[in-house]
Amino acid sequence: MPIVENEALGPELKTRVPGPESRTWLLRLSRVAAPMGPIPEPGPMRSIVFARGSGSNVWDVDGNRFVDLAAGFGSLLLGHDPPEVLRALDVQKALLLQAMGDVYPSNAKVGLLEQLVEICGIPDAQGILGQSGADAVSAALKTAVLATGRAGVIAFRGAYHGLSYGPLSVCGLRESYREPFAAQLNSHVHWVDYPKDTSTEAAALERTEALLRSGGIGALIYEPILGRGGVVPMSDACAKELRRLTIDHGALLIADEIWTGLGRSGSWLYCGRQGVTPDVVCLGKGLGGGLPLSACLARREVMQAWSRDAEVVHTSTFAGAPLACATALATLDVLRRGAVVERAAAVGSVFMQQLRDELGPLGVTLSGAGLMIGAQLDGGAGVAGDVLLQLAKRGYLVSTGGGARQSIVLTPPLTIAPSVLTEFTSVFRDVLRGTLHGG
Ligand SMILES: Cc1ncc(COP(=O)(O)O)c(C=O)c1O
Repeated sequence: MPIVENEALGPELKTRVPGPESRTWLLRLSRVAAPMGPIPEPGPMRSIVFARGSGSNVWDVDGNRFVDLAAGFGSLLLGHDPPEVLRALDVQKALLLQAMGDVYPSNAKVGLLEQLVEICGIPDAQGILGQSGADAVSAALKTAVLATGRAGVIAFRGAYHGLSYGPLSVCGLRESYREPFAAQLNSHVHWVDYPKDTSTEAAALERTEALLRSGGIGALIYEPILGRGGVVPMSDACAKELRRLTIDHGALLIADEIWTGLGRSGSWLYCGRQGVTPDVVCLGKGLGGGLPLSACLARREVMQAWSRDAEVVHTSTFAGAPLACATALATLDVLRRGAVVERAAAVGSVFMQQLRDELGPLGVTLSGAGLMIGAQLDGGAGVAGDVLLQLAKRGYLVSTGGGARQSIVLTPPLTIAPSVLTEFTSVFRDVLRGTLHGG
């Protein structure tokens, strides 16, 4: 397979951003979509409406071309229209759109699970498929309680695991996510501050150990790199210590690799690169190649806890849907045969160095691994939102992260052309000079 790289197309703006067509669509949206945030003020709108995507680019409804450094919150590993994935979709759609979950599975589902148990890094693994990352985390939490008989869970303040009810109970990124629903959430969750650097590790490990000692803990769930939390890696030593402690106290270690996994962080799994073999791994985001798909994988002996005589106690209509399984198989094939994971590590390390060289002097700290990079801005809470808008106005789409939305998060397609990243770095520097330093 030739080197997989998207065409090196920079931004091409035909209107001011957002343009008139985006404004019209956003107005229509505001009438029919529930208001999922601050009530929009009349005046400047901050969003654009996507119409088309190809490679590492997105076109909005005004015909403006953007470079997409967010890539569907990191989910478009191979860009917007990878030919192999589209071909797999064509073939599968002519064969079978939908199967019957756990009753009558499709051959695509079987083939996919066979591959996932190979790449998940857990010896002799079995898996459960879902549609969203939150589905995979729900399955992991349920697996832990079934396998250990203990309801208690340790989770990290600062980490993100999804917002449906199971994951929300362990989602520590912002108190405001849980607060309105607190009365309905799992009350067996114990919090530890995410060890963001060596100075906070000892306290985090001490508290973890004390909680494990107190008994009743069936699982510890962690992100090897905080994703939405601003792209902050946990140190290898700390992750290994969590592994040791959970083994010592008979709790399952759940690695949420929904964002970090499948090459995004420059390795198939970041926990593997850290030398940690968890009991349970969650995958999602890029797994389906742009279609919704997720997986929870665990050792066979752990998964045996699901086995029961009377009934199936966990399923959903579209679990293991053939279209998503087919695009996932194509995605894994390109990742492997195109050496895309290795490429992400190499391109990511050059990009990181460029960003450090250009932004370091402005007081910006860079963190991350592979093509999952966070720029921690020193301008106070909410500053990242302004930078995001300024970058969009210049044709670059990014996302924000961190508990106080103080980070710019960069998760481009792993197949992005390096020259596009170099051009972006200069634009980013100019925008930050204007926003953070007013000049
Ligand atoms: C680490 C992690 N876990 C879980 C989720 C939830 O995934 P989804 O939004 O597909 O439910 C996310 C989403 O950003 C995530 O980053």
